[in-house]
Amino acid sequence: MENWTDSYLLDISEIDKQHRGFFELWENECRNADLNNYDQLKNIVEKLENYILEHFKTEEELLRKSGYADIESHIAQHGFFIQKVSEMKLELNYKNTLLFEKLTMFIKKWFISHIMQTDRKYRDEVIIYLSENPQ
Ligand SMILES: [Fe+2]
Repeated sequence: MENWTDSYLLDISEIDKQHRGFFELWENECRNADLNNYDQLKNIVEKLENYILEHFKTEEELLRKSGYADIESHIAQHGFFIQKVSEMKLELNYKNTLLFEKLTMFIKKWFISHIMQTDRKYRDEVIIYLSENPQ
């Protein structure tokens, strides 16, 4: 499974730090998960979910400040993802190990393709905004 690589960098330090942090969290939590402990598995999914929610908040705030024109469709993608994860999370109640793996893989794969495709679209505009408005 893909790990962090510098090709994911957007050159927006706060966002890059959080993106990289997601991969660290995913590795730390999922690598040693006890697949027989469903409370723990649920807890891991919630940690990933909360981390990503916090990240979305930061990102959406930055897009708002930057006046990014396509912000609504970007936020809609975040919303779609959150909805999908909360649906898939219910499947954990079936206590099937494969569903945990399917869910955590989905989260990671979605995150990667979101960084590489959707986040890339705001990159230039946000970099210009930050260069004119140092935080
Ligand atoms: Fe995003």
